[in-house]
Amino acid sequence: MRTETPQTIRLEDYRPSDHLIDRVDLDIRLAPHDTRVSATLAVRPNPAGVPGAPLVLDGDELTLLGLALDGQALPADAFAASPGGLTLHAPPQRPFTLTVETQIDPTANTKLMGLYRSGGVYCTQCEADGFRRITYFLDRPDVLSVYTTRIEADREEAPVLLGNGDPGEAGAVPGTGRHFAVWHDPHPKPAYLFALVGGRLDRVSAPFTTMEGRAVTVAVYVEPGKGPRADYALDAVLRSMRWDEAAFGRPYDLAVFNVVAVSDFNMGAMENKGLNIFNDKYVLADPETATDTDYANIEAVIAHEYFHNWSGNRVTCRDWFQLCLKEGLTVFRDQEFSSDMRSRAVHRIGEVRTLRARQFPEDAGPLAHPVRPRAYAEINNFYTATVYEKGAEIVRMIRTLLGPAAFRAGMDRYFSENDGRAATVEDFLSAFAAESGRDLSAFARWYERPGTPRVSAAGSHDAQTGRYTLSLRQSLPGGDGAPLVIPVALGLVGAAGPLEATCERVRDGVFVLEAASDTITFAGVAEPPVPSLFRGFSAPVRLEMDLGDAERLTLLRHDTDPFNRWQAAQSVAMRLILDRATARAQEAEGAEGAEGAEEAGPAAAAYAAALGAFLDAEALADPAFAALVLGLPGEGDVANEMGRDVDPDAIHRARQALRRHLGRSLRGRLDPLRAALAPAAGAPFSPDAASAGRRALANAALDLLGIADPEAGTQAAEAQLAAATNMTDRLAALSVLAQIPGPARERALEAFGERYADEPLVLDKWFALQATIPEAGTLERIARLRRHPAFAMTNPNRVRALIGSFGLGNPTQFARADGAGFALLAETVEALDRVNPQIAAKLLTTFGSWRMLEPARSSRAGEILSRMQARPGLSRDVTDILARTLA
Ligand code: ARG
Ligand code: ZN
Repeated sequence: MRTETPQTIRLEDYRPSDHLIDRVDLDIRLAPHDTRVSATLAVRPNPAGVPGAPLVLDGDELTLLGLALDGQALPADAFAASPGGLTLHAPPQRPFTLTVETQIDPTANTKLMGLYRSGGVYCTQCEADGFRRITYFLDRPDVLSVYTTRIEADREEAPVLLGNGDPGEAGAVPGTGRHFAVWHDPHPKPAYLFALVGGRLDRVSAPFTTMEGRAVTVAVYVEPGKGPRADYALDAVLRSMRWDEAAFGRPYDLAVFNVVAVSDFNMGAMENKGLNIFNDKYVLADPETATDTDYANIEAVIAHEYFHNWSGNRVTCRDWFQLCLKEGLTVFRDQEFSSDMRSRAVHRIGEVRTLRARQFPEDAGPLAHPVRPRAYAEINNFYTATVYEKGAEIVRMIRTLLGPAAFRAGMDRYFSENDGRAATVEDFLSAFAAESGRDLSAFARWYERPGTPRVSAAGSHDAQTGRYTLSLRQSLPGGDGAPLVIPVALGLVGAAGPLEATCERVRDGVFVLEAASDTITFAGVAEPPVPSLFRGFSAPVRLEMDLGDAERLTLLRHDTDPFNRWQAAQSVAMRLILDRATARAQEAEGAEGAEGAEEAGPAAAAYAAALGAFLDAEALADPAFAALVLGLPGEGDVANEMGRDVDPDAIHRARQALRRHLGRSLRGRLDPLRAALAPAAGAPFSPDAASAGRRALANAALDLLGIADPEAGTQAAEAQLAAATNMTDRLAALSVLAQIPGPARERALEAFGERYADEPLVLDKWFALQATIPEAGTLERIARLRRHPAFAMTNPNRVRALIGSFGLGNPTQFARADGAGFALLAETVEALDRVNPQIAAKLLTTFGSWRMLEPARSSRAGEILSRMQARPGLSRDVTDILARTLA
């Protein structure tokens, strides 16, 4: 066991490596407990480093078996070795070869970093620092090497052997029952992009020809028997390859591109050069087991990893502080891909919902950090919504500021200037500055400032002159006062439609707010307008503007920007929920039964009437969009909007009351809508966006039926559950039933659990659904499900489904006033920390908003966290999150 005092690593301390490793020759003999790794490293002094410096190689839980320099065994006093590192005190000051033999136990590796076994398949995960768990190395992203890997294994146990790059020699090892395969990757890469796979796997494949005429074989490898479930992922790879050529001019650069799905995986997937390794959740899909959301996620994650081939692999990061350089950019690229494959407006709303649900709370709590952090104790704790999602918003703002042509030129320049290099955020920005002639130094503050900026807006109309004046003011609590550069996409809307007003400071519909405050004036405005600000969510800020409900509902009806139409309905609903939740909290309980429509005031009635009119006019024209407009802000969104003294029960009751009111008001429309959206009998299932949109709206209607009229809702849901031909409709029906206590729910849950007893990815949905039931009995339900034969602490997907969903998606029970929900989470984190610290630390981040809670709840959370902090033997991962959460 290692005990570590977390050491802080700082960006300002960066200096180049004293040595470089040009070539790595690996010979890896796989065996379940005794895997041998022989590494031959071509080392040379780095001209940019300190001459004569010792060679300090990273290691983690390694056993050293042999060491030679230029083929000669080293005397014992020439080096120091431990499981955590290998140092050559005085290496030659010229190029030399170091041969290192290590022993590792992939079966015992439950951390799922380095080389491990998942369901009998050998696989690797090396980002951020897993390669040092395979062999001693300069495990830092600015050391790039050309790898040749020979993999050897038992022929029965691992008939498939895959590595990075292109395949070379392969064959039997005579007289041993073993075989080998050699892989060579000509592209220099950092160690975090190394990968290998060995196991019994099925394969689906397709040919692809790049824009340069290079023939590529694309293959997806999955668990035996699951081949048909890989077809959608394979198709998504081909579409991603074509799209990156068309949208960014980026062709693929090897003869093979392999994707492998494994069932135990810490993250979503990994972009290893030529050999992407995936959590099988983001590969496997068929109508029986995958929802429309699963299909969309698979498409997005496949694209994301593929796009890393350029944004991440060909151009990598100099150090881990630059993580957003590859992750933010690649999220932006996958979002653009999905928008082109689907409905751009609908996709944009989804992106913003995720950002607000995950990144905004992070940015508002104790784990807030800049998109480019300046310090870390454990880098694996910085694969966050801020680095990924806010990082993507920064790239999107660059495009908005520069326009599509200069943006594309800047991207081309970035790729060509940095190809084969380990780059920085400065390199990225300088490519855009060079192409656009703009100074981006003030814009660069977006990378440095944590927190979500607020922009407050106020307008006034002068009927006499036909002028409309808009004042904008930005603020960032805790900032140093220097303003951010904020692109504000905007327009004016009148009572009967968009207004043609002019303002010379608005270009292509965008005003750039560069000062702390500014005022702009529109001319030719005959009537009092409603401003539509931050169209398409043009910047990741919170907008504060005193608009009345009537004005917001005008935007819902008449704005040309679909995002702001959706936002208008959300804002009205948010205010209604907030008003009610805060009134309720002050009332101090005792109002249980009084939540009927009769209690909803005229404002709620006007909201429901506007949604009714909207549905009548547009539901069938764009069902996916309509489904989003019908959805209320989540309980977490409401909590985040309150910011302090949060009582999750009050929020839950207030939101339920509005849902019930909406359902009852729209009651007469729900059945006809569901009927109109039902597919023709016998129509084949298609996962395309249009079909998914129809299912989404029909299921939103079913959901409202369930709350407006539980009896009719139960009947309709049971009927849908029985008749459904796909997982989307089945799970939607089950979710409706899950919200209605009673025997019908228990029957349905049990039957579903039995039906999918052998489908772990489907059981994950079932675990998550039950973990998020907002009732006191849920804790007991979770205790029972933890003993379910399919549940395992060693599998990250299972833990995330049952415990992670509870922490993230069940605010009333997680933050129970008696502290039992916090205790459940804390116990799981402590137990998991001994198995898989990375996942334990991630789970612990569900406490991130604890200070926002009302005093009784937050002191419970604080006590539990402090008690955990006092326990000895916690991992560095958990220690780091605890320290920051309690700071
Ligand atoms: N680079 C991967 C991605 O595509 C994430 C890998 C993160 N791994 C980790 N251990 N933190 O986003
Ligand atoms: Zn990524």
